[in-house]
Amino acid sequence: MHIGIVGASGEVGRMMIRVLEEHKIGIEKLSLFASKRSAGEKIKFNENEIVIQELTKDSMMKKYDYLLFSAGSSVSKKYASIAAEHGNVIIDNSSAFRSSAEIPLIIPEINGQLLQNYRGIIANPNCSTIQMLLALNKLHQKYCLKKIVVSTYQAVSGAGHSALEEMKNQRKGKSGNTIFPKKIDLNVIPIIGEILENGYSSEEMKMQNETVKIFGDRNIRVSATTVRVPVSYGHSESIFCEFKEEVSLESVKQILLNSDAVVFHENEIITPLDIVNSDASHVSRLRIGFDNHSINFWNVANNIRVGAATNAVRIMEKHISLN
Ligand SMILES: NC(=O)c1ccc[n+]([C@@H]2O[C@H](COP(=O)([O-])OP(=O)(O)OC[C@H]3O[C@@H](n4cnc5c(N)ncnc54)[C@H](OP(=O)(O)O)[C@@H]3O)[C@@H](O)[C@H]2O)c1
Repeated sequence: MHIGIVGASGEVGRMMIRVLEEHKIGIEKLSLFASKRSAGEKIKFNENEIVIQELTKDSMMKKYDYLLFSAGSSVSKKYASIAAEHGNVIIDNSSAFRSSAEIPLIIPEINGQLLQNYRGIIANPNCSTIQMLLALNKLHQKYCLKKIVVSTYQAVSGAGHSALEEMKNQRKGKSGNTIFPKKIDLNVIPIIGEILENGYSSEEMKMQNETVKIFGDRNIRVSATTVRVPVSYGHSESIFCEFKEEVSLESVKQILLNSDAVVFHENEIITPLDIVNSDASHVSRLRIGFDNHSINFWNVANNIRVGAATNAVRIMEKHISLN
């Protein structure tokens, strides 16, 4: 297979290369693209050094088996469409196409079947949404979700490599912030993305809209508060949810223990530092909510893996197996 990665020098792009190695996918050729800034740099893949090329329109007109995009929305809007017009299958990590009705928004463990007989652009959901829905999927199938109230504690790497540099510089005592609206080191910032007319942030609306689209259920109501915390890798979420059906703690535990890509921890407290190399969505501190129709739990996952690179590679594997 010939795979291309657009945004190969970024946090997500570099992790995609690692995940492709780990999954031992038969790749004969890997082409890496980024902007002019990183063109010429080399990245190792399976003992070979691959030179990053500058992304051009011509390079997107060629034939690939899969193209994985993680270079931001504007790059995806401009180049993914060209690649799709030339017959390629694109898995896009940006938010550019997620809300388009004709573009599938995929978490393979939940709605991967939509990839059967599909070619073109496939959207990878928002990082916070992926880890939350992996944890909730089988519970929703059994008990039918009515409401989700979620507060996130999102790592700095979620805003890309330059955001990590900004936090490191602040930690060394340098002042100034360009990526975040306030100093992030030693702080907590209760806004991710921009504030919209309804008072919610764009990140919060992604969690609401993407949940409805992925579960294919307009009746689920989601209220999110998204917060940036000075953690390098790993998003955490405090999740309260209410179901139509009655739940019991024991059966919720059994369902979580049998959910794909989920690890349930009964007696352990899980933090971002505990799950650095994990490809699972971790659930701990499970407890009954107001009554036997609701639960509370703590959810942690590596945002670069589960929330981006691993989900993209799993989409590719699912597409291969179905087509
Ligand atoms: N970080 C996360 O947790 C996460 C999770 C889910 C989705 N995403 C999405 O994934 C995308 C990338 O995120 P990231 O965290 O990897 O960001 P990042 O570390 O800032 O990397 C951005 C990548 O895009 C490339 N790029 C930027 N402008 C370009 C252009 N004009 N032409 C070609 N390449 C260009 C950069 O190349 P240079 O090195 O040449 O600048 C770099 O490879 C974003 O859409 C983000 O929203 C991120």
